[in-house]
Amino acid sequence: MTKPTTWSGRFSEPVDARVKRYTASIPFDWRLAPFDIQGSLAHAAMLEKIGVLSAQDLADIRRGLGEILATFEAGQFQWNLDDEDIHFNIERDLTRRIGDAGKRLHTGRSRNDQVATDIRLWLRDAIDRIQTILLAARVALLNQAEAHADTVMPGFTHLQAAQPVTFVHHLMAWQSMLARDAERLADCRRRVNRMPLGAAALAGTSFPIDREFVMRELGFEAMCENSLDAVSDRDFAIEFLACGALIMTHLSRMSEELVLWMTPRFGFIDLPDRFCTGISIMPQKKNPDVPELMRGKTGRMNGHLVALLTLMKGQPLAYNKDNQEDKEPLFDAVDTLIDSLALFAELVPGIRVKAEAMRRAAIEGFSTATDLADYLVKKGLPFREAHEAVARAVAAAEKKACDLADLSLVELQTFSTLIAEDVYAVLTLEGSLAARDHIGGTAPNQVRAAILRARTTLKG
Ligand code: ARG
Repeated sequence: MTKPTTWSGRFSEPVDARVKRYTASIPFDWRLAPFDIQGSLAHAAMLEKIGVLSAQDLADIRRGLGEILATFEAGQFQWNLDDEDIHFNIERDLTRRIGDAGKRLHTGRSRNDQVATDIRLWLRDAIDRIQTILLAARVALLNQAEAHADTVMPGFTHLQAAQPVTFVHHLMAWQSMLARDAERLADCRRRVNRMPLGAAALAGTSFPIDREFVMRELGFEAMCENSLDAVSDRDFAIEFLACGALIMTHLSRMSEELVLWMTPRFGFIDLPDRFCTGISIMPQKKNPDVPELMRGKTGRMNGHLVALLTLMKGQPLAYNKDNQEDKEPLFDAVDTLIDSLALFAELVPGIRVKAEAMRRAAIEGFSTATDLADYLVKKGLPFREAHEAVARAVAAAEKKACDLADLSLVELQTFSTLIAEDVYAVLTLEGSLAARDHIGGTAPNQVRAAILRARTTLKG
């Protein structure tokens, strides 16, 4: 292949070596290769349809791009820094393989609309892969939930035991977070899936192009309607990173709970050894490295979102070289999301629940105090007075180091004469759970119904 010493006849000296390294994107945008080829094939077919390329040119281009794709898939694609980016690398390689037809491929197109198209195709594919893994993670949560229909744990506010909940209810809360993530990604995909090709450098092209044809070939559901906007818009990438940041935020919150639950202080769960590591100097330790790292990687994801927002904020229309900086954050975001979600989906079935410890913690925290207050209100006491009576009952139980349900009826009646024998039905964990019997409540029959509803949605 002949390498240019200068960009074109307009330049009087070759590009400085450091500038070449600084401005090249090929060390990372090689990943776009299959999508660049897909875009070129559709563009070439359109050029032939409108009579700009001959049937022979198109056949040559198809053969050449097919060979390049096969080389790429075999892991043998060799890029060249002199050719700056993936678009030039492929075009030069194509021309080397097929001659003049390769030089005609770029008619009516610019790298500006080409790169915008490539990223959208790449991201659309990435979103589909992420959705598949997100679904697997949700199924894993539903399966784990089903296995623990009757396990009780303390529900927390301010990280203080508040009211008993079913463990299923907690897992289903996680599932709800991921369900929203899937919805958001599906919505984001609609705006990713629009075609910039045809905008050329910024103003469109003087060739009688058929954008509808290219759009259909590439499976885009709409077109970017303004050529200036088409080449400069990266909103879709920012939106995707916002979705990604929320996914990681959710994984991070769940990870934080797993880490807490696994400390012997909580002792609610254990994680399989294969997801943990030891520490060389402390033989007794087993650390939940995977959830810790998942929490940590959220920082990197938030960084990518801020990077792209900052990248765009000062850019005048239309394309600017700044845009080349959109790729590394996006690529890394997708890698991080896929790895994190896949690991989470594998980790969930491995959670070993220590139901006894959860139950003990639920009792210890006076978690049925609200039930006692509600009981008094139902017997006619104003809520504020009921609240105060229960606070005194809790203080008494605390002093005796026992649970509310361990206080005798006589003792309980010193806080309110409205209390009768039937109070014990509401003071138990099971009584408290069963009482929250409405959509969204933690009663076992409600969470079982919630699992069924979620399964139906997942089947789509
Ligand atoms: N590598 C470039 C990018 O990623 C491709 C577009 C270059 N266009 C240009 N006018 N220099 O943005």
